[in-house]
Amino acid sequence: MPTVPEPQQPVPVIIDCDTGVDDALALLLAVRHPGLDLRAVTCVAGNTDVEGVVRNTLTVLEQAGAPDVPVARGAERPLIEAVRTARHVHGHDGMGDLGLPAPARVPVDVDAVTLLHREILASPRPVTLIPTAPATNIALLLRTHPEITRNIERIVFMGGAVATGNATPVAEFNVWHDPEAAAILLGAGVPITMYGLDVFQRVIVPGPDVRRLRASTEPGTRLAGELLAHRGPATDESDPGGGLGDAGAVCAVIDPAGLTTQRLPVEVCLAPGPGRGQTLVDRRGRVGEAELHGDTREQPLVDVGLDVDVARYVELYLTAVEQPRGLAA
Ligand code: BDR
Ligand code: CA
Repeated sequence: MPTVPEPQQPVPVIIDCDTGVDDALALLLAVRHPGLDLRAVTCVAGNTDVEGVVRNTLTVLEQAGAPDVPVARGAERPLIEAVRTARHVHGHDGMGDLGLPAPARVPVDVDAVTLLHREILASPRPVTLIPTAPATNIALLLRTHPEITRNIERIVFMGGAVATGNATPVAEFNVWHDPEAAAILLGAGVPITMYGLDVFQRVIVPGPDVRRLRASTEPGTRLAGELLAHRGPATDESDPGGGLGDAGAVCAVIDPAGLTTQRLPVEVCLAPGPGRGQTLVDRRGRVGEAELHGDTREQPLVDVGLDVDVARYVELYLTAVEQPRGLAA
């Protein structure tokens, strides 16, 4: 008798974010895609202060139709650095100043590290962590509960850059904001995918699609359109689209085949000065003079995103966000 294939179970995921316009796009996708089971969301200072991140995260989950996903407040500043927000990108409220309503609920009464610990251990299957923010909460989790890695499947994080940075000429914002935390994340000892600026900046939803989303009467779909419009203009000023940003990291969990990666050694530059926060990705493919002359340091191997199927991820995003669970045929 032919065997009936087991139905694919949704992947248990937790998002650690600094919502943030594109973090909000990521949350909308994670809530609405049937391939994911969003078990919790943890908040950290980054794009805006942590109070604002919590408020924005709760509001987005309510608009997305997922008011029950537990949300916890996390670190209010990086391990060493001061908070350096990106309100010039994400608006004064961190959500594009779209005038969104205040959330009806409050976060859970435990901190982010406690919620991460609890939810990861409670998951019947290993959890995929999706940090889309400075890695402060993740570093604190790994240092507080190192045994937690036994129930972590992989970490797919937005951060870093092979080529050009954004916060500095070489450093990407999330890693620059808390370089020590990023270094701890990279050393977690679980499989890690780096969804860095090289791919992050490429996935842009075309203008006509953004306009269609904005015209929707369904609150979550309309919010996705408003957020994408805030992230324009892209290349064509006359019909600006909007970048998926952090949501691309969620796409990489749902559909890893859309992301071309190479397993490479990655090191975070922690030294003060112009290189601080850079992700040094070793693409040499050979032993260099440094190693020949005694440099025996080994860097964590990371699956680094080098290319992305833009049309595939845009399609994935639109399909999920326009067909909310329960409303889909
Ligand atoms: C990253 O920084 C934030 O502004 C975005 O949300 C993204 O996580 C890009 O450098
Ligand atoms: Ca972010």
